[in-house]
This record gives sequence, C-alpha cells and structure tokens, in this order.
Amino acid sequence: MNKVEISASILAADFTRLGAHMKEAEAAGVERFHVDVMDGRFVPNITFGPLMVEAARRCTKVPIEAHLMIVEPERYIADFAKAGADNIQVHQEICPHLHSVVQLIHQLGKKATVVLNPATPLSTLEDILGDVDQVLIMSVNPGFGGQTFIASALSKVAWLRQMIEERSLNCEIEIDGGIAPPVAGAAVKAGARVLVAGSAVFHGAEGVAEAVRRLRASAEEG
Ligand code: DX5
Ligand code: ZN
Repeated sequence: MNKVEISASILAADFTRLGAHMKEAEAAGVERFHVDVMDGRFVPNITFGPLMVEAARRCTKVPIEAHLMIVEPERYIADFAKAGADNIQVHQEICPHLHSVVQLIHQLGKKATVVLNPATPLSTLEDILGDVDQVLIMSVNPGFGGQTFIASALSKVAWLRQMIEERSLNCEIEIDGGIAPPVAGAAVKAGARVLVAGSAVFHGAEGVAEAVRRLRASAEEG
C-alpha cells in the first residue's frame, strides 16, 4: 500500500447524528474509521465499547479500526471482532503477552496493530514487528482528542520506516494525534501511510468534505 489513507476518528464526530456525520466522511473519501475505546484506567477518560463499533459498522462499509486504550484488552478482543472491527489495535504498554494477543487477533481473522505511546521506544517492537500488520505511533498522550501534535513522533516514524525497510516487512505505519495540515504532510514524508484525524475531519467550520480534501492535499505534499 503506497497510497496514503485517512482514518477518521469518530471521537470528534457529532454523536447526535453519528451516522450522517460518518456518511459525510465516507463520501469525502476517508479510507477507514477509527474508534477510540477508553476505560478510565489505562487512560484518564472513558468513551465507548463494542456497541459503538457495532453501530458504526451498520453505518459504513469502510474498514473500522478499534483502538483499545484499556487494561486487559485480551478480555474484549473477541467482542470487538464480533462487533465488526477489521483492525484491532493494542498498546504495547499494557500487554505483557503481546505475542499471544496478536495471535488471538489473527485467529479471529482481523488485522493486528501494536500501538506505542510517545515515551515507549521502538526497541520494544524488535521481536514482534514481523508478526504485526501495522504499528500505530501515538503523536499525543492517549486519552483525548484535540491535543497538540508531539513533534518527536516524526523521527520515531522515520526510524520505524527504516526498521521495516531493512527487514523487508509488510507492515504499515499509522500515526494518531494532532494530525492536521501541515503536520499531515510531514508525517507522510517521515514514512507514515495511514493518518488518524479526528478534530481535523469533524470540527472544521469548512465542513467534512473540504476538511478531508485539505488533509489529503497536505498528505500528498509529503
Ligand atoms: C487520542 C486518540 C485519537 C484522537 C485523535 O487518545 O487515540 O485517535 O481521537 O484526535 P485528534 O485528531 O483530534 O487529535
Ligand atoms: Zn486513537
């Protein structure tokens, strides 16, 4: 996959008209939807669970990723798979048995993503990189939408791109948090191929279609 994909984070959508807001994003050409699952323990905020994935699934045919910011994610992976998530994303920091969690996601026929917080080094991926479909680099501390992009994520993406190329792996790089133009272009230039964006897609006064167009234009400059 060389084309850059945009994954719209529904955390920033208007929940009173979620289906319509998602359809606007789908019509604007986003390639994925991103569902931020927070438990108030791993991160200091609470959002939603498998029911939201199930509702989102009924609104779109576009692939859905479930970003699990929860303790003991292995207890809920089957539920998210059943709800219709195509890509299940677990944090390295909360998974002592990361390899078996990745195996479980694959056994359920889903894509597996490992997520790294801003302070977690790439070296923690050394022995799992060959087994995952995607790595998600957090460019904010997880828990809330609308935060400021942490610039050190760019060099992390560039190093990860190098690790993947050196080993000729088939692994995508996604980045999440504070992504908007012109940072989107810088992230792509560093090696990211999937951009998660919440506020930049759903909050702009210009509307979703124009927001997605601007984001993609910035990404294509990268
Ligand atoms: C933060 C979440 C992000 C968030 C991104 O914990 O993982 O996916 O929704 O929101 P923006 O794009 O507003 O930074
Ligand atoms: Zn997220």
